[in-house]
Amino acid sequence: MLDNAIWSRDITNKPLPPLVTGLPFLGSSLELSSNSLNFFVKSYHDVGEIFRIRAAHRRFTVLAGSEANQFVNQTGADFLSSKDFWQDFAKELGTEELLISLDGDRHQQMRRLLQSGYSRNAIIHAFPETIQVITNLTDRVESGQRLQVLPFLQQIICEQLGMLLADYSPSDYCADLVKFLKTALNVMVTKQWPSFLLYQPSYRRAKQRVIELARLAIAKNRDRTSQRDRPNLIDDLIADSQKAQPMLSEAELIAAAIGPYLAGLDTVANTCAFMLYALLKNPEAMAKVQQEVDLLFQNGLPKAEQLRGMSALHGAAMETLRMYPVAAAIQRTAIAPFTFKGFRVDRGTTLIIATTVPHFLPQFFPNPEVFDIDRFHPPRSEHKQNGAFAPFGAGTHLCLGNGLAEVQIMLTMATLLHQLEFSLESPNYQIQAINNPTLSPRNRFYLQVQRRK
Ligand code: HEM
Repeated sequence: MLDNAIWSRDITNKPLPPLVTGLPFLGSSLELSSNSLNFFVKSYHDVGEIFRIRAAHRRFTVLAGSEANQFVNQTGADFLSSKDFWQDFAKELGTEELLISLDGDRHQQMRRLLQSGYSRNAIIHAFPETIQVITNLTDRVESGQRLQVLPFLQQIICEQLGMLLADYSPSDYCADLVKFLKTALNVMVTKQWPSFLLYQPSYRRAKQRVIELARLAIAKNRDRTSQRDRPNLIDDLIADSQKAQPMLSEAELIAAAIGPYLAGLDTVANTCAFMLYALLKNPEAMAKVQQEVDLLFQNGLPKAEQLRGMSALHGAAMETLRMYPVAAAIQRTAIAPFTFKGFRVDRGTTLIIATTVPHFLPQFFPNPEVFDIDRFHPPRSEHKQNGAFAPFGAGTHLCLGNGLAEVQIMLTMATLLHQLEFSLESPNYQIQAINNPTLSPRNRFYLQVQRRK
Protein backbone atom coordinates (compact mmCIF):
# COMPACT_ATOMS: atom_id res chain seq x y z
CA MET A 1 0.00 0.00 0.00
CA LEU A 2 1.58 3.31 -1.02
CA ASP A 3 -0.81 6.02 0.11
CA ASN A 4 -3.09 5.92 3.14
CA ALA A 5 -4.29 8.14 6.00
CA ILE A 6 -0.85 8.03 7.60
CA TRP A 7 1.46 8.71 4.64
CA SER A 8 1.14 9.79 1.05
CA ARG A 9 3.27 10.80 -1.94
CA ASP A 10 1.22 13.97 -2.33
CA ILE A 11 2.76 16.95 -0.51
CA THR A 12 0.58 19.66 -2.09
CA ASN A 13 -0.24 22.45 0.42
CA LYS A 14 1.09 20.44 3.32
CA PRO A 15 2.95 22.41 6.04
CA LEU A 16 6.40 21.58 7.42
CA PRO A 17 6.35 19.69 10.74
CA PRO A 18 6.46 21.73 13.99
CA LEU A 19 9.92 22.83 15.18
CA VAL A 20 11.27 21.98 18.63
CA THR A 21 13.28 25.15 19.17
CA GLY A 22 15.80 24.26 21.93
CA LEU A 23 18.54 26.64 23.07
CA PRO A 24 19.80 29.64 21.07
CA PHE A 25 22.48 28.49 18.58
CA LEU A 26 22.86 25.00 20.19
CA GLY A 27 19.26 24.00 19.51
CA SER A 28 18.79 20.47 20.88
CA SER A 29 22.48 19.45 20.61
CA LEU A 30 22.85 18.69 24.31
CA GLU A 31 19.79 16.42 24.44
CA LEU A 32 20.91 14.62 21.27
CA SER A 33 24.41 13.88 22.52
CA SER A 34 23.46 12.87 26.08
CA ASN A 35 20.36 10.65 25.96
CA SER A 36 18.53 11.28 22.69
CA LEU A 37 15.89 8.63 23.38
CA ASN A 38 14.49 10.49 26.43
CA PHE A 39 14.37 13.61 24.31
CA PHE A 40 12.50 11.85 21.46
CA VAL A 41 9.95 10.36 23.87
CA LYS A 42 9.36 13.75 25.53
CA SER A 43 9.04 15.55 22.18
CA TYR A 44 6.64 12.84 20.93
CA HIS A 45 4.38 13.58 23.91
CA ASP A 46 4.79 17.37 23.63
CA VAL A 47 4.64 17.81 19.83
CA GLY A 48 3.49 14.61 18.10
CA GLU A 49 4.62 11.88 15.72
CA ILE A 50 6.65 14.17 13.46
CA PHE A 51 8.73 17.22 14.39
CA ARG A 52 11.80 19.14 13.32
CA ILE A 53 14.85 19.68 15.51
CA ARG A 54 18.07 21.70 15.25
CA ALA A 55 21.48 20.78 16.61
CA ALA A 56 23.81 23.75 16.04
CA HIS A 57 23.98 24.05 12.21
CA ARG A 58 22.35 20.66 11.57
CA ARG A 59 18.65 20.13 10.88
CA PHE A 60 16.64 16.92 11.28
CA THR A 61 13.06 15.78 10.92
CA VAL A 62 12.13 13.11 13.46
CA LEU A 63 9.45 10.46 12.88
CA ALA A 64 8.39 8.62 16.02
CA GLY A 65 5.70 6.17 17.12
CA SER A 66 4.37 2.82 15.93
CA GLU A 67 3.05 4.29 12.66
CA ALA A 68 6.49 5.66 11.80
CA ASN A 69 7.83 2.09 12.15
CA GLN A 70 4.98 0.75 10.00
CA PHE A 71 5.78 3.37 7.36
CA VAL A 72 9.46 2.32 7.30
CA ASN A 73 8.54 -1.38 7.21
CA GLN A 74 5.99 -1.04 4.43
CA THR A 75 7.27 1.65 2.08
CA GLY A 76 10.57 2.90 3.49
CA ALA A 77 12.53 1.59 0.49
CA ASP A 78 10.62 4.03 -1.81
CA PHE A 79 11.48 7.10 0.25
CA LEU A 80 14.55 6.48 2.39
CA SER A 81 18.29 6.09 1.79
CA SER A 82 20.99 5.27 4.34
CA LYS A 83 23.91 6.18 2.03
CA ASP A 84 24.59 9.75 3.24
CA PHE A 85 24.67 8.72 6.88
CA TRP A 86 27.29 6.00 6.36
CA GLN A 87 29.36 7.16 3.40
CA ASP A 88 32.18 8.91 5.34
CA PHE A 89 32.66 5.83 7.49
CA ALA A 90 32.70 3.58 4.40
CA LYS A 91 35.35 5.82 2.82
CA GLU A 92 37.45 5.57 5.98
CA LEU A 93 37.57 1.83 5.28
CA GLY A 94 38.61 2.53 1.69
CA THR A 95 35.28 1.62 0.08
CA GLU A 96 32.04 3.17 -1.15
CA GLU A 97 29.96 0.18 -0.15
CA LEU A 98 29.08 -1.25 3.22
CA LEU A 99 25.94 -3.36 3.66
CA ILE A 100 24.44 -0.65 5.88
CA SER A 101 25.21 2.16 3.40
CA LEU A 102 23.58 0.51 0.38
CA ASP A 103 20.07 0.94 -1.00
CA GLY A 104 17.89 -0.92 -3.48
CA ASP A 105 18.92 -4.03 -5.46
CA ARG A 106 22.62 -3.79 -4.59
CA HIS A 107 21.70 -3.83 -0.90
CA GLN A 108 19.47 -6.90 -1.36
CA GLN A 109 22.23 -8.76 -3.24
CA MET A 110 24.79 -7.98 -0.56
CA ARG A 111 22.34 -9.02 2.18
CA ARG A 112 21.81 -12.38 0.47
CA LEU A 113 25.57 -12.94 0.31
CA LEU A 114 25.98 -12.25 4.05
CA GLN A 115 22.80 -13.65 5.55
CA SER A 116 23.93 -17.22 6.19
CA GLY A 117 27.13 -16.07 7.96
CA TYR A 118 25.13 -13.70 10.19
CA SER A 119 22.35 -16.18 10.92
CA ARG A 120 21.30 -17.68 14.25
CA ASN A 121 22.89 -20.94 13.08
CA ALA A 122 26.32 -19.32 13.43
CA ILE A 123 25.98 -19.67 17.21
CA ILE A 124 23.50 -22.54 17.55
CA HIS A 125 26.16 -25.04 16.46
CA ALA A 126 28.88 -23.56 18.66
CA PHE A 127 27.56 -23.48 22.22
CA PRO A 128 30.61 -25.18 23.85
CA GLU A 129 33.06 -22.83 22.11
CA THR A 130 30.95 -19.75 22.94
CA ILE A 131 30.83 -20.74 26.62
CA GLN A 132 34.57 -21.53 26.63
CA VAL A 133 35.35 -17.96 25.53
CA ILE A 134 33.52 -16.70 28.63
CA THR A 135 35.12 -19.25 30.96
CA ASN A 136 38.61 -18.25 29.74
CA LEU A 137 37.90 -14.70 30.91
CA THR A 138 35.92 -15.44 34.09
CA ASP A 139 38.75 -17.76 35.22
CA ARG A 140 40.86 -14.63 35.65
CA VAL A 141 38.26 -12.92 37.88
CA GLU A 142 38.95 -13.09 41.63
CA SER A 143 36.32 -13.22 44.38
CA GLY A 144 35.84 -9.78 45.91
CA GLN A 145 37.11 -8.07 42.79
CA ARG A 146 35.68 -4.73 41.68
CA LEU A 147 34.92 -5.31 38.00
CA GLN A 148 34.62 -2.58 35.38
CA VAL A 149 31.69 -4.09 33.53
CA LEU A 150 31.85 -2.70 30.00
CA PRO A 151 35.49 -3.50 29.04
CA PHE A 152 35.01 -7.02 30.50
CA LEU A 153 31.91 -7.62 28.38
CA GLN A 154 33.51 -6.06 25.28
CA GLN A 155 36.38 -8.55 25.56
CA ILE A 156 33.94 -11.48 25.77
CA ILE A 157 31.71 -10.36 22.89
CA CYS A 158 34.66 -9.45 20.68
CA GLU A 159 36.23 -12.90 21.13
CA GLN A 160 32.91 -14.63 20.50
CA LEU A 161 32.26 -12.70 17.28
CA GLY A 162 35.77 -13.47 16.02
CA MET A 163 35.39 -17.15 16.79
CA LEU A 164 31.81 -17.52 15.45
CA LEU A 165 31.98 -15.47 12.25
CA ALA A 166 35.66 -15.57 11.28
CA ASP A 167 37.25 -18.52 13.11
CA TYR A 168 39.93 -16.06 14.18
CA SER A 169 40.57 -14.81 17.73
CA PRO A 170 40.92 -11.01 17.80
CA SER A 171 42.61 -11.19 21.29
CA ASP A 172 44.94 -8.13 21.47
CA TYR A 173 43.12 -6.47 18.60
CA CYS A 174 39.97 -6.07 20.73
CA ALA A 175 41.18 -2.77 22.24
CA ASP A 176 41.97 -1.50 18.71
CA LEU A 177 38.50 -2.43 17.50
CA VAL A 178 36.89 -0.58 20.40
CA LYS A 179 39.06 2.52 19.87
CA PHE A 180 38.65 2.55 16.09
CA LEU A 181 34.89 1.98 16.05
CA LYS A 182 34.10 4.41 18.87
CA THR A 183 36.14 7.23 17.35
CA ALA A 184 35.18 6.65 13.72
CA LEU A 185 31.45 6.26 14.47
CA ASN A 186 31.28 9.25 16.84
CA VAL A 187 33.14 11.47 14.35
CA MET A 188 31.83 10.27 10.99
CA VAL A 189 28.41 8.74 11.61
CA THR A 190 26.71 10.43 14.56
CA LYS A 191 29.05 13.44 14.17
CA GLN A 192 29.10 14.17 17.90
CA TRP A 193 32.91 14.24 18.16
CA PRO A 194 35.22 16.71 16.34
CA SER A 195 37.02 15.47 13.21
CA PHE A 196 40.55 16.33 14.45
CA LEU A 197 40.33 13.13 16.55
CA LEU A 198 40.87 11.18 13.31
CA TYR A 199 44.44 12.56 13.19
CA GLN A 200 45.41 11.29 16.65
CA PRO A 201 48.29 8.78 16.37
CA SER A 202 46.43 6.37 18.71
CA TYR A 203 43.39 6.38 16.38
CA ARG A 204 45.49 5.94 13.22
CA ARG A 205 47.31 3.02 14.80
CA ALA A 206 44.02 1.40 15.92
CA LYS A 207 42.62 1.75 12.40
CA GLN A 208 45.72 0.23 10.84
CA ARG A 209 45.56 -2.71 13.29
CA VAL A 210 41.85 -3.30 12.61
CA ILE A 211 42.57 -3.60 8.88
CA GLU A 212 45.48 -5.91 9.71
CA LEU A 213 43.10 -8.09 11.76
CA ALA A 214 40.68 -8.35 8.82
CA ARG A 215 43.53 -9.32 6.45
CA LEU A 216 44.83 -11.96 8.89
CA ALA A 217 41.36 -13.49 9.33
CA ILE A 218 40.84 -13.61 5.55
CA ALA A 219 44.32 -15.10 4.97
CA LYS A 220 43.79 -17.79 7.62
CA ASN A 221 40.48 -18.84 6.10
CA ARG A 222 41.89 -18.68 2.54
CA ASP A 223 44.80 -20.95 3.48
CA ARG A 224 42.55 -23.54 5.05
CA THR A 225 42.95 -26.90 3.33
CA SER A 226 40.20 -28.94 5.00
CA GLN A 227 36.48 -28.35 4.37
CA ARG A 228 34.47 -26.84 7.22
CA ASP A 229 31.10 -28.47 8.12
CA ARG A 230 29.38 -25.12 7.96
CA PRO A 231 30.95 -22.15 6.12
CA ASN A 232 31.34 -19.03 8.26
CA LEU A 233 30.93 -15.42 7.14
CA ILE A 234 34.53 -15.12 5.94
CA ASP A 235 34.25 -18.39 3.97
CA ASP A 236 31.23 -16.95 2.15
CA LEU A 237 33.12 -13.73 1.39
CA ILE A 238 36.13 -15.70 0.10
CA ALA A 239 33.89 -17.92 -2.04
CA ASP A 240 32.49 -14.74 -3.63
CA SER A 241 36.00 -13.35 -4.25
CA GLN A 242 36.92 -16.54 -6.15
CA LYS A 243 34.07 -16.19 -8.65
CA ALA A 244 34.76 -14.95 -12.19
CA GLN A 245 32.78 -11.80 -11.37
CA PRO A 246 32.94 -11.29 -7.63
CA MET A 247 30.37 -9.06 -6.01
CA LEU A 248 32.94 -7.46 -3.71
CA SER A 249 36.27 -5.77 -4.46
CA GLU A 250 39.26 -6.53 -2.17
CA ALA A 251 38.59 -3.31 -0.17
CA GLU A 252 34.91 -4.26 0.20
CA LEU A 253 35.96 -7.74 1.32
CA ILE A 254 38.14 -6.25 4.08
CA ALA A 255 35.37 -3.86 5.15
CA ALA A 256 32.87 -6.75 5.21
CA ALA A 257 35.23 -8.77 7.44
CA ILE A 258 35.15 -5.91 9.99
CA GLY A 259 31.31 -5.90 9.75
CA PRO A 260 30.60 -8.27 12.66
CA TYR A 261 32.49 -6.02 15.10
CA LEU A 262 30.95 -2.86 13.66
CA ALA A 263 27.44 -4.29 14.10
CA GLY A 264 27.74 -6.63 17.05
CA LEU A 265 30.45 -5.59 19.49
CA ASP A 266 29.04 -2.49 21.19
CA THR A 267 25.41 -3.45 20.71
CA VAL A 268 25.66 -6.85 22.44
CA ALA A 269 28.18 -5.76 25.13
CA ASN A 270 26.06 -2.73 26.08
CA THR A 271 22.86 -4.79 26.14
CA CYS A 272 24.47 -7.37 28.46
CA ALA A 273 25.70 -4.54 30.74
CA PHE A 274 22.21 -3.04 30.95
CA MET A 275 20.71 -6.50 31.53
CA LEU A 276 23.05 -7.15 34.46
CA TYR A 277 22.11 -3.78 35.97
CA ALA A 278 18.36 -4.29 35.42
CA LEU A 279 18.43 -7.76 37.02
CA LEU A 280 20.41 -6.51 40.03
CA LYS A 281 17.85 -3.72 40.52
CA ASN A 282 14.99 -6.27 40.27
CA PRO A 283 15.80 -9.11 42.67
CA GLU A 284 12.58 -11.04 41.96
CA ALA A 285 13.35 -11.22 38.25
CA MET A 286 16.98 -12.09 39.08
CA ALA A 287 15.86 -15.00 41.32
CA LYS A 288 13.71 -16.47 38.50
CA VAL A 289 16.52 -16.10 35.95
CA GLN A 290 19.14 -17.53 38.34
CA GLN A 291 16.98 -20.59 39.02
CA GLU A 292 16.60 -21.27 35.28
CA VAL A 293 20.29 -20.73 34.65
CA ASP A 294 21.43 -23.16 37.32
CA LEU A 295 19.03 -25.80 35.95
CA LEU A 296 20.45 -25.20 32.48
CA PHE A 297 23.97 -26.14 33.57
CA GLN A 298 22.86 -28.94 35.92
CA ASN A 299 23.79 -31.73 33.53
CA GLY A 300 26.91 -30.25 31.96
CA LEU A 301 27.08 -27.99 28.94
CA PRO A 302 23.69 -26.66 27.76
CA LYS A 303 22.23 -27.56 24.39
CA ALA A 304 20.66 -25.08 21.97
CA GLU A 305 17.15 -26.50 22.30
CA GLN A 306 17.21 -25.93 26.08
CA LEU A 307 17.32 -22.13 25.63
CA ARG A 308 13.81 -22.25 24.12
CA GLY A 309 12.24 -23.22 27.43
CA MET A 310 13.92 -20.45 29.42
CA SER A 311 11.06 -17.99 29.71
CA ALA A 312 12.55 -15.86 32.51
CA LEU A 313 15.94 -15.48 30.79
CA HIS A 314 14.27 -14.76 27.46
CA GLY A 315 11.83 -12.29 29.06
CA ALA A 316 14.72 -10.51 30.79
CA ALA A 317 16.69 -10.21 27.54
CA MET A 318 13.64 -8.88 25.66
CA GLU A 319 12.76 -6.47 28.48
CA THR A 320 16.33 -5.15 28.44
CA LEU A 321 16.09 -4.61 24.67
CA ARG A 322 12.84 -2.72 25.29
CA MET A 323 13.97 -0.50 28.18
CA TYR A 324 17.60 -0.03 27.12
CA PRO A 325 17.48 -0.13 23.30
CA VAL A 326 21.13 0.46 22.42
CA ALA A 327 20.31 1.36 18.80
CA ALA A 328 17.46 3.68 19.74
CA ALA A 329 16.95 5.30 16.32
CA ILE A 330 18.01 5.01 12.68
CA GLN A 331 19.02 7.83 10.36
CA ARG A 332 18.10 8.27 6.70
CA THR A 333 17.82 10.83 3.88
CA ALA A 334 14.49 11.35 2.07
CA ILE A 335 15.08 10.40 -1.59
CA ALA A 336 11.53 11.36 -2.57
CA PRO A 337 9.08 13.82 -0.98
CA PHE A 338 6.22 12.47 1.12
CA THR A 339 3.59 13.47 3.66
CA PHE A 340 3.52 11.83 7.08
CA LYS A 341 0.59 12.48 9.45
CA GLY A 342 -0.34 15.64 7.54
CA PHE A 343 3.15 17.19 7.43
CA ARG A 344 5.46 17.53 4.44
CA VAL A 345 8.92 15.97 4.17
CA ASP A 346 10.94 17.39 1.26
CA ARG A 347 13.44 15.42 -0.82
CA GLY A 348 16.91 15.69 0.75
CA THR A 349 15.63 16.07 4.33
CA THR A 350 17.79 14.35 6.95
CA LEU A 351 15.51 12.05 8.91
CA ILE A 352 15.75 10.35 12.26
CA ILE A 353 13.31 7.47 12.69
CA ALA A 354 13.07 7.14 16.47
CA THR A 355 12.17 3.47 16.19
CA THR A 356 12.15 2.71 19.92
CA VAL A 357 9.89 5.53 21.14
CA PRO A 358 6.89 3.09 21.25
CA HIS A 359 8.81 1.01 23.84
CA PHE A 360 7.91 3.77 26.33
CA LEU A 361 4.26 4.32 25.37
CA PRO A 362 1.80 2.86 27.90
CA GLN A 363 -0.78 2.01 25.21
CA PHE A 364 1.66 -0.69 24.03
CA PHE A 365 3.64 -1.47 27.18
CA PRO A 366 1.61 -0.68 30.34
CA ASN A 367 3.78 0.83 33.11
CA PRO A 368 6.63 1.26 30.64
CA GLU A 369 9.08 2.34 33.35
CA VAL A 370 8.71 -1.05 35.17
CA PHE A 371 11.12 -3.89 34.28
CA ASP A 372 8.57 -6.66 33.74
CA ILE A 373 9.94 -9.89 32.29
CA ASP A 374 6.46 -11.41 31.77
CA ARG A 375 5.35 -8.93 29.08
CA PHE A 376 6.55 -11.05 26.21
CA HIS A 377 4.73 -14.27 26.95
CA PRO A 378 1.20 -15.24 25.91
CA PRO A 379 -1.42 -14.07 26.50
CA ARG A 380 0.24 -10.64 26.92
CA SER A 381 2.78 -10.77 24.06
CA GLU A 382 2.97 -6.96 24.16
CA HIS A 383 5.83 -6.82 21.66
CA LYS A 384 3.72 -8.36 18.89
CA GLN A 385 1.61 -5.20 18.35
CA ASN A 386 2.28 -3.67 14.93
CA GLY A 387 5.25 -1.28 15.06
CA ALA A 388 5.51 -1.38 18.87
CA PHE A 389 8.80 -3.24 19.43
CA ALA A 390 11.80 -2.36 17.27
CA PRO A 391 15.10 -2.84 19.13
CA PHE A 392 16.62 -4.22 15.92
CA GLY A 393 15.43 -1.39 13.66
CA ALA A 394 12.84 -1.50 10.88
CA GLY A 395 12.54 -1.86 7.13
CA THR A 396 15.07 -3.17 4.64
CA HIS A 397 18.07 -2.75 6.97
CA LEU A 398 16.44 -4.63 9.87
CA CYS A 399 19.32 -6.13 11.90
CA LEU A 400 20.69 -9.10 9.97
CA GLY A 401 22.20 -10.54 13.16
CA ASN A 402 19.08 -10.31 15.33
CA GLY A 403 18.66 -14.07 15.83
CA LEU A 404 22.37 -14.48 16.51
CA ALA A 405 22.32 -11.51 18.92
CA GLU A 406 19.36 -12.85 20.88
CA VAL A 407 21.03 -16.23 21.44
CA GLN A 408 24.41 -14.62 22.16
CA ILE A 409 22.89 -12.35 24.83
CA MET A 410 20.99 -15.24 26.47
CA LEU A 411 23.92 -17.66 26.45
CA THR A 412 26.45 -15.07 27.63
CA MET A 413 24.25 -13.89 30.48
CA ALA A 414 23.36 -17.47 31.48
CA THR A 415 27.03 -18.44 31.64
CA LEU A 416 28.08 -15.32 33.55
CA LEU A 417 25.27 -15.68 36.11
CA HIS A 418 26.11 -19.35 36.55
CA GLN A 419 29.82 -18.73 37.13
CA LEU A 420 29.82 -15.41 39.00
CA GLU A 421 27.69 -13.59 41.55
CA PHE A 422 27.42 -9.87 40.90
CA SER A 423 26.32 -7.09 43.25
CA LEU A 424 25.85 -3.35 42.90
CA GLU A 425 28.33 -1.19 44.79
CA SER A 426 25.37 0.58 46.40
CA PRO A 427 21.68 -0.42 46.27
CA ASN A 428 20.90 3.20 45.29
CA TYR A 429 23.19 3.13 42.26
CA GLN A 430 21.44 4.43 39.13
CA ILE A 431 22.98 3.67 35.76
CA GLN A 432 23.56 6.63 33.45
CA ALA A 433 22.92 5.94 29.77
CA ILE A 434 24.67 8.10 27.16
CA ASN A 435 25.02 7.97 23.37
CA ASN A 436 28.55 6.78 22.71
CA PRO A 437 27.65 6.28 19.82
CA THR A 438 25.12 3.56 20.71
CA LEU A 439 23.26 3.92 24.02
CA SER A 440 25.88 2.83 26.57
CA PRO A 441 26.31 2.80 30.33
CA ARG A 442 28.74 5.53 31.38
CA ASN A 443 32.26 4.15 31.73
CA ARG A 444 32.20 4.11 35.49
CA PHE A 445 29.86 1.13 35.80
CA TYR A 446 31.53 -1.18 38.34
CA LEU A 447 30.16 -4.29 40.08
CA GLN A 448 31.45 -6.41 42.96
CA VAL A 449 32.03 -10.02 41.93
CA GLN A 450 32.24 -13.35 43.77
CA ARG A 451 32.99 -16.67 42.10
CA ARG A 452 30.10 -19.15 42.42
CA LYS A 453 31.65 -22.43 41.26
C1 HEM B 1 21.62 -6.12 20.98
C2 HEM B 1 22.24 -6.35 19.84
C3 HEM B 1 21.93 -5.64 18.55
C4 HEM B 1 21.10 -4.59 18.28
C5 HEM B 1 20.22 -3.83 19.27
C6 HEM B 1 21.18 -4.33 16.87
C7 HEM B 1 20.47 -3.35 16.21
C8 HEM B 1 20.56 -3.09 14.86
C9 HEM B 1 19.84 -2.06 14.16
C10 HEM B 1 18.87 -1.07 14.81
C11 HEM B 1 20.17 -2.12 12.85
C12 HEM B 1 19.63 -1.25 11.73
C13 HEM B 1 20.49 -0.03 11.52
C14 HEM B 1 19.90 0.89 10.48
O1 HEM B 1 18.86 0.60 9.89
O2 HEM B 1 20.49 1.96 10.26
C15 HEM B 1 21.11 -3.21 12.71
C16 HEM B 1 21.67 -3.59 11.51
C17 HEM B 1 22.56 -4.65 11.39
N1 HEM B 1 22.97 -5.51 12.37
FE1 HEM B 1 22.43 -5.44 14.31
N2 HEM B 1 22.06 -5.21 16.31
C18 HEM B 1 22.54 -6.03 17.30
C19 HEM B 1 23.46 -7.04 17.16
C20 HEM B 1 23.98 -7.49 15.99
C21 HEM B 1 24.90 -8.59 15.85
C22 HEM B 1 25.44 -9.45 16.99
C23 HEM B 1 25.20 -8.69 14.53
C24 HEM B 1 26.12 -9.67 13.86
C25 HEM B 1 27.30 -9.97 14.33
C26 HEM B 1 24.45 -7.66 13.83
C27 HEM B 1 24.47 -7.45 12.47
C28 HEM B 1 23.82 -6.43 11.82
C29 HEM B 1 23.98 -6.16 10.41
C30 HEM B 1 24.86 -6.92 9.44
C31 HEM B 1 23.18 -5.02 10.14
C32 HEM B 1 23.03 -4.32 8.80
C33 HEM B 1 21.81 -4.84 8.05
C34 HEM B 1 21.59 -4.13 6.74
O3 HEM B 1 22.12 -3.05 6.54
O4 HEM B 1 20.88 -4.70 5.90
N3 HEM B 1 23.73 -6.96 14.74
N4 HEM B 1 21.33 -3.78 13.94
